[in-house]
Amino acid sequence: MWRFHCVSLLVAFSISTAAAARKDILLPGEEWAEELPHDFISGESCPSPDPALYYQPVIGIVTHPGDGATGRLSNSTDTSNIPASYVKFVESAGARVIPLIYNEPWDVISEKLELVNGVLFTGGWANEGLYFETIKKVFEFTLARNDAGDHFPLFAICLGFELLSMIISQDHDILEHFMAQNQASTLQFANISEIQGSVFERFPSELLRKLSAECIVMQNHREGLSPRRLQANDALSSFFKILTTSTDEINEVYISTAQAYKYPITCFQWHPEKNAFEWGSSLIPHSEDAVRVTQLVANYFISEARKSLNRPPAQKVRDNLIYNYSPTYGGKAGLYLQTGHWPWLFTHGVRHLLWNI
Ligand SMILES: *[C@@H]1O[C@H](CO)[C@@H](O)[C@H](O)[C@H]1NC(C)=O
Ligand SMILES: *[C@@H]1O[C@H](CO)[C@@H](O)[C@H](O)[C@H]1NC(C)=O
Repeated sequence: MWRFHCVSLLVAFSISTAAAARKDILLPGEEWAEELPHDFISGESCPSPDPALYYQPVIGIVTHPGDGATGRLSNSTDTSNIPASYVKFVESAGARVIPLIYNEPWDVISEKLELVNGVLFTGGWANEGLYFETIKKVFEFTLARNDAGDHFPLFAICLGFELLSMIISQDHDILEHFMAQNQASTLQFANISEIQGSVFERFPSELLRKLSAECIVMQNHREGLSPRRLQANDALSSFFKILTTSTDEINEVYISTAQAYKYPITCFQWHPEKNAFEWGSSLIPHSEDAVRVTQLVANYFISEARKSLNRPPAQKVRDNLIYNYSPTYGGKAGLYLQTGHWPWLFTHGVRHLLWNI
């Protein structure tokens, strides 16, 4: 620890000296000799950040019922969890996380919603009861925030997308069965010339090409929505534009990425967070290209959150950050190999989280 501190201090020192002394970089074998010019000391040469953006974004992640480990860690009906991968996904792009504990009273959840700049719905299995109701209310909050003039993004992943399909269509049976559990797949773009303004807009063309030809995204679902089913439903087809489709093990086509026409809402049937941060299934793609997919998707999400106008009080944010909860390592029993879902744990009143490394 001490050694690490020394090293980072040294690095920080030499970088600031280098930047301060000259406008170019220090090459191997060179030394800085000049006086520090005034503008470098004061930092006046650094371009000021875009004042329209917020550089301390916070994302609310709704917890999912259960311990995420089939009762191995907790059988309490109060327990809920967030897989650590989603937290790392958000943090890797420069934001912090406030957990929205799904079974807390709605006024507690709505107070926490006042502290965030966007929300994320995770994967999982729960599709009814209080969890469904909480997801619905957070979704309605998201629409209202945007209707009121904020830019308040929502990312809905796997189950999150399925729940939004049910909520928007007002049909609990809208989903169809697919064979896409524990499967790496491609993404087929509905119309590659229309990715501007979408999560794919900043993907290099070479990576877009790979996405459509190589299995570098991870699927883990038994339900989904075919393009046909979406198009036949007025509520869904007027809400969502299809960005990509994928094919399951028996060649059935489902929507793998969709985006709301009028809201900064993106839905994924696949798992952008897994490539960089989950290790339970050997089929999860971990190539450099696959990891870039995780990073580019996370960067897009948080770039959207920076556009939010919400400026929550710093102390209230700190009081509710996920750093107030200690993570618990739960990846040793091998159970996760079957489910592909791994937890980060909350029991009402008990503050612990589960790392899924
Ligand atoms: C939860 O219940 C199951 C089944 O009864 C049991 O095997 C398991 O040990 C329980 N878990 C905990 C953490 O007590
Ligand atoms: C794809 O999008 C472009 C730009 O909006 C449009 O001109 C073109 O007709 C679309 N192609 C198809 C097949 O829909």
